[in-house]
Amino acid sequence: MEEILKAISGYLSFRNDYDSFLLYANEIRGENSGYNFNDNRLNPDIFMETSESRNMQYNWTTSKSIDELESNIRNCMKCKLGATRKKFVFGSGNPNADIVVVGEAPGADEDEQGLPFVGRAGQLLTKILASIELERDQVYICNILKCRPPGNRNPEIDEIESCEPYLKKQIELINPKLILALGKFAAQTLLQTKQPLGKLRETLHDYQGVKTIVTFHPAALLRNPNWKILTWADVKFLRKEYDKILQNG
Ligand code: URA
Repeated sequence: MEEILKAISGYLSFRNDYDSFLLYANEIRGENSGYNFNDNRLNPDIFMETSESRNMQYNWTTSKSIDELESNIRNCMKCKLGATRKKFVFGSGNPNADIVVVGEAPGADEDEQGLPFVGRAGQLLTKILASIELERDQVYICNILKCRPPGNRNPEIDEIESCEPYLKKQIELINPKLILALGKFAAQTLLQTKQPLGKLRETLHDYQGVKTIVTFHPAALLRNPNWKILTWADVKFLRKEYDKILQNG
């Protein structure tokens, strides 16, 4: 950590921006938790790891493929999670998938491996998909946030605001026919609503022109196995919609 701080310090003193560095360093050390990251004095883009990745940061919106988007954003330091992540968790699966599955944010296992849904909740997700005859690599799996919130705390507003445009672009490039939102957080973020999960299930919603279905997060099912039956109903609904799409070409 000290080495990282030293490198940032060198860079910022070079830019005569040492005050901003001190605020940022204090935040990383937890000494100034009230610091507002939206403060214009501190441009988070300057924390990109190299000048090359810094330039790419500005060009990601014109990415032409999922791979290009990933390489353009994987060094992102737009929010404070960039400083604490081990790996950026972009997403995995079929880049031409008809179905995109959206979770909340990487956990510890995902942060280690750089892949979404690889821990216990991920194993359950694999089974849920198998229950409607879908293999993991048939669909595309990603999250609202690409970096792990420390201690698996809930995502914060500034983190969502920084990361959601990446998801939007990802979905635009994949151009799926259906989205499955896992859990309250993914559902409320995608659908821009504060409605509880119970009100959002069993309805066909629309996210940027893509039919969207909401169900429980697999991690919630690990805590409340009696919700599995409801989840099964939700994914059967997803399968029915998918079959309709396949039949109609
Ligand atoms: N929970 C999520 O929401 N996403 C993951 O990738 C893993 C666990």
